[in-house]
Amino acid sequence: MSTMDSNDLLTLGRDRYLPVYRPRELILQRGQGARLWDAEGRDYVDFGAGIAVCSLGHCDPDLVAALHEQSNKLWHTSNVFYSEPPLRLADELVASSRFAQRVFLCNSGAEANEAAIKLVRKWAASQGRGPDQRVILTFRGSFHGRTLAAVTATAQPKYQEGYEPLPGGFRYTDFNDLDAVAAAMAAGDVAAVMVEPVQGEGGVMPAAPGFLAGLRALCDAHDALLVFDEIQCGMGRTGSLFAHWQDEVMPDIVTLAKALGGGFPIGAMLAGPKVAEVMQFGAHGTTFGGNPLAAAVARVALRKLASDDIAANVRRQAQAIRDGIAAINAELDLFSEVRGRGLMLGAVLKPEHAGKAGAILDAAAANGLLLLQAGPDVLRFVPALNIRDDEIADGLARLRKALQAFALS
Ligand SMILES: Cc1ncc(COP(=O)(O)O)c(C=O)c1O
Repeated sequence: MSTMDSNDLLTLGRDRYLPVYRPRELILQRGQGARLWDAEGRDYVDFGAGIAVCSLGHCDPDLVAALHEQSNKLWHTSNVFYSEPPLRLADELVASSRFAQRVFLCNSGAEANEAAIKLVRKWAASQGRGPDQRVILTFRGSFHGRTLAAVTATAQPKYQEGYEPLPGGFRYTDFNDLDAVAAAMAAGDVAAVMVEPVQGEGGVMPAAPGFLAGLRALCDAHDALLVFDEIQCGMGRTGSLFAHWQDEVMPDIVTLAKALGGGFPIGAMLAGPKVAEVMQFGAHGTTFGGNPLAAAVARVALRKLASDDIAANVRRQAQAIRDGIAAINAELDLFSEVRGRGLMLGAVLKPEHAGKAGAILDAAAANGLLLLQAGPDVLRFVPALNIRDDEIADGLARLRKALQAFALS
């Protein structure tokens, strides 16, 4: 595609989008592993993976093969009929979860969280608790999606403004502060605590040691459910298939999406023994959830992301990124810390560079590196979990160039 074609295409479609996004002015055309090419033939190292989605890189041959094979058999049945891929995926998700008995398959993270919110309320109702006794407690800095209930669970006003009236039944408290949680639960009206084991959009903020265990204890004391939103931090990203395994805490509900389909849209809500039988026939549904194509791809993604090889590579490459940022920082002194777990890392800009993450992303893209931010002050690194040494080295070299350009500007 020539420059002219690329511009024409942007002119053609850009202003037809509802302007809720501000995509970079480039058209991505092809991807392989942790590398992407735009319509002009420029290549990029991808440290963003489609917002922590393409955890096996772009066009992983096993995922492509699963998609091809299924695409010649059956695309869609609706949930009025069974088909093989979602039946097998449900079994494999339950077996690999260490806690779940049942799973609800859907299409996105917000939809998985909607299902979790509804399940919490239905469970509370089944316990004879009235509507005002079904409060869901969530955390400042959290992100749970954009549908009306999920955005209300998302305790960040910037995502909620203008959408009032928001649904009731949510309360917010401070992340990593068990005293605050205890106070917020003291009235005895909380039916569930919903939390990301590592906050993603809110700045790549891991739960402090003991925080999730403390939540479990408080939930048990108040007969409340514990819901982990692992949509961003799950599926191997932190070095274990589920992030909460590292905290040795049993949840009642876990939500998944993003990496579950390796780039093909799918979400899931896993339900543990307390809640697995609460929603019965007719209580919830979705036309596309458990779509055979998505499920066939997710089965392969799940098997690969659960492997020891992936966990070992996450450890190795996370260290390489930390070392690389430390070396760059020794030269440029831009960051106050690097936080996160596994390949979910946030480099926090020093106060004198606060608010400049967007400008750094521009410099990165201009130097052939696709990076994300998590708020205005944090650079977010969520590359493919099978990213290779040479891709990491190339990405870090481009990051160094971009940060040098930024520091000079
Ligand atoms: C932790 C978390 N929960 C929920 C969501 C919403 O997922 P989706 O955009 O697929 O609806 C996201 C998306 O960034 C997320 O990071």
